[in-house]
Amino acid sequence: MSTIIETRNLTKKYGDFTANKDVCLKVEEGEIRAIIGENGAGKSTLMNMLYGTLKPTSGEILFDGKPVTFDSSLDAIKCGMGMVHQHFKLSPSLTVYENIILGLEMSREVSIFGKKVTLPVINNKKEKEAVRQLIQRYNFNLDPGAKVKDLSIGAKQRVEILKMLYRDVKVLILDEPTAVLIPQEIEELIEKIAELKKMGKTVIIITHKLNEVKQCADTISVMRRGHLVGTVKNDDSATPETLANMMVGRPVQLVAAKSPKPVGKEVVLDVSHLSAKDSYGKAVVNDVSFQIHDNEVVGIAGIEGNGQTELMYLLSGLMKNSGGSVKVKGKEVLGMWPDELRAEGIGIVPEDRYRQGVCLPLSVSFNLISGYHGDKRFCHSGLMDYAEIRKNKEKLVEEYDIRLSDSADPPVEALSGGNAQKVIIAREFSHDPSVLLMAQPTRGIDVGATEYIHDEIIRFRDKGKAILLISSELTEVKGLTDRLLVMYEGEIVGEFVSDEVSFEELGLYMSGAKRMKKDA
Ligand SMILES: Nc1ncnc2c1ncn2[C@@H]1O[C@H](COP(=O)(O)OP(=O)(O)OP(=O)(O)O)[C@@H](O)[C@H]1O
Ligand SMILES: [Mg+2]
Repeated sequence: MSTIIETRNLTKKYGDFTANKDVCLKVEEGEIRAIIGENGAGKSTLMNMLYGTLKPTSGEILFDGKPVTFDSSLDAIKCGMGMVHQHFKLSPSLTVYENIILGLEMSREVSIFGKKVTLPVINNKKEKEAVRQLIQRYNFNLDPGAKVKDLSIGAKQRVEILKMLYRDVKVLILDEPTAVLIPQEIEELIEKIAELKKMGKTVIIITHKLNEVKQCADTISVMRRGHLVGTVKNDDSATPETLANMMVGRPVQLVAAKSPKPVGKEVVLDVSHLSAKDSYGKAVVNDVSFQIHDNEVVGIAGIEGNGQTELMYLLSGLMKNSGGSVKVKGKEVLGMWPDELRAEGIGIVPEDRYRQGVCLPLSVSFNLISGYHGDKRFCHSGLMDYAEIRKNKEKLVEEYDIRLSDSADPPVEALSGGNAQKVIIAREFSHDPSVLLMAQPTRGIDVGATEYIHDEIIRFRDKGKAILLISSELTEVKGLTDRLLVMYEGEIVGEFVSDEVSFEELGLYMSGAKRMKKDA
């Protein structure tokens, strides 16, 4: 095996903050390398330098033994480096093959008097055929003519990967590819990665899920606070526990520990016959009823796209219902605006953190009060109390270990994904709501911070709170909750005591193979 990528003392600074410090990484041709590390450790920064989207401050990158400098990702692709970002960069209104070809369109050629002449017209037929062959070669299950907007998230990701393979890259970097996928899609992706390796490709994968690392990687590199702290073989000595320890620098409890405190008697959240339709008139939330008591965490499990997102929208004031009611401690709150809901004691941790959870250009200190900025503590007679807002930020940054990089109060867009999520978690928990609605709270969050969030959820429950937890992480939703509901096609099809149901049983309800009888 020969080294395909080498970095020598690669360093990236943002102002005074060093995101990567003297990173010396070696990746062998044909291997699957996992890169793991806490939120903000510098994983994406390192990969973006390899892919030409970030310029190193100092240090060298060698590709196939030769020093390279990339001015853009086009240079990196030409060299044989491909990358799929966590947030896809596809054109939804174009077809699969158009997206793959985009930027490398083929022109139609004609022969005039024996001479080949290229016409300024795109040769769709040839392009479509090339993409069909590509799909066949790599055995990707995709229809080249389908519109990207109609595809599942897993299929969109396959288009992104094919786009890179069409450009014949040797190395494929996947930045948190499984964070957006459902369990079945994750299995498929891991199989695909193994196939790509068999075909001679080198794959670098960033993930926070240590079981995936164990499943697919040959070697594992660990980053901590901008440094590459080690690279280990994926053998029996590299257990999820030892890897977590290497990442965080201390032992981490990987499975949430629930205290045996009994569920309370008071109904705090009462959802009754709640329904909503999408813009085509299809019922996306269909006659959903459940109650959450004080001292109780209720989870909603289900394959994404079965109404969980819409249920969260309804409960957090972002969607109109077509029937039903939602009461908090007996008071009707359905149809209230998010700020009115907050005033009623409802905390919201939304699924789409960048669109609904934070305001990216706004500073951390303002994001930590947004939604609560009218509170007496932060606002007197219409004037903001900056000293108090700063004090609040300092306290929460310390308490929740939010890593802020170079400045004391940067805009949230300068934070790593996981740290942006910690801003939301810190804000919602610190305002001490009586009901907490949480969707995918630990998506993209490192193991150390996940442990912290899980502990907080349990502590919060034990203070007498009601929590609704929507998560596609089955271990999380089963481990943390007292009761579990399964959603399928907009309906609640199963209800279980979380400790008494198996993953297999849940899987049957989640896939629609089984369902409980509906009450008359
Ligand atoms: N444009 C920027 N300006 C200032 N600091 C930045 C910028 N982009 C990233 N950083 C900082 O660099 C550090 C490393 O960020 P990076 O995105 O590489 O982390 P990561 O390991 O990928 O984390 P995560 O697991 O949360 O995705 C973070 O602390 C982040 O705040
Ligand atoms: Mg990252």
